[in-house]
Amino acid sequence: MNRHKSLLRALRGEQVWPPPIWLMRQAGRYLPEYRAVRAQAGDFVALCTTPVLAAEVTLQPVRRFGLDAAILFSDILMLPWAMGCDVAYREGEGPILSPLRDRAAVEALDSTRLSAAIEPILETVRRAGERLGAEQPGVALIGFAGAPFTVACYMVEGAGSKDFAATRTMAYRDPGLFTQLIHRLADATVLYLEAQIEAGAEAVMLFDTWAGLLSPIRFRQHVIGPTGMIVRRLKQRFPSVPVIGFPRLAGQLIGEYVAVTKVDAIAMDTAMDPALVRAVVPSATALQGNLDPMALVAGGPALAEEAGRLLDAARGHPFVFNLGHGIVPQTPPEHVAELVRLVRAA
Ligand code: CP3
Repeated sequence: MNRHKSLLRALRGEQVWPPPIWLMRQAGRYLPEYRAVRAQAGDFVALCTTPVLAAEVTLQPVRRFGLDAAILFSDILMLPWAMGCDVAYREGEGPILSPLRDRAAVEALDSTRLSAAIEPILETVRRAGERLGAEQPGVALIGFAGAPFTVACYMVEGAGSKDFAATRTMAYRDPGLFTQLIHRLADATVLYLEAQIEAGAEAVMLFDTWAGLLSPIRFRQHVIGPTGMIVRRLKQRFPSVPVIGFPRLAGQLIGEYVAVTKVDAIAMDTAMDPALVRAVVPSATALQGNLDPMALVAGGPALAEEAGRLLDAARGHPFVFNLGHGIVPQTPPEHVAELVRLVRAA
């Protein structure tokens, strides 16, 4: 049945034209219907752990724009939350965690409570999958997790940051401890994504937003290594479920990331040139991306020109139209509708 879903066909290496389209962070504050449900839920963690509301928010952008995929509504920091970390989201400040700085804190991470704690998130996946099956049978459901390095960044730092200096310093000062943290997160991520797939996720994505902060040696160690392990283990049980990697700002290391991790698809960040990426990845590795989210804010002729250039560069390769990073709150929803029209007319 899911053979007919254009997103899954493209992720498995088929050239689908016009390409399927979905957008990173497609559910969120730029949508008035999201803000209404968010207000009803109270805080963000409550929204992520109330399956009726989270499933509703998952489907909102698909219903409004006719996109080809829905992505589970949750957050990358719900994994540390499920392992017992305090995670709070403050209005305008982003996520706040109690900073993890020593061995005791790493050892306190509790994988035994994980499967119970993620149950509401899995219920969201089931509900969203059922509703898509009934209402939008051509639309695929994507599950996701943060990649270990990016999740570790927020855990060690205790908040968002431009450079995650405390995290990168810890990785040099106490490499044993940092590696232990990454391994624990990688193991938990495998369990978490396996459970999402069993609940109905048809493809999964690993968000490594801060991968580009690392030196090449550390990138191999903390990004390529654990991502490869996660892909290998997922493929043992679910060989046909595509895995999308998003090693943001990986730059020159993108070819090595694809070759070693064996992800099925690469989510290109805004800085990547699709023509150069095509030259260094296998012809069956799907590309996803990478329109500048600010072109979507601007709209009009600039949006049409950027989208057209991207479509031209991707044609002849398996491709999924997307942004190079998440939608920002100031995005006018009409511009998203316009982008979908442009891509459908390709
Ligand atoms: O449509 C979707 O993609 C929904 C699911 C989703 C969210 N976050 C919801 C969310 C996904 C896939 C994410 C991923 C995520 N979360 C990443 C990786 C992708 C990226 O953008 O780089 C990262 C780094 C985070 C961590 C995070 N969560 C931050 C930094 C923030 C605050 C800043 C912001 O962008 O709002 C969040 C909160 C968050 N996650 C919101 C949403 C809709 C906003 C919360 C609110 O409603 O107040």
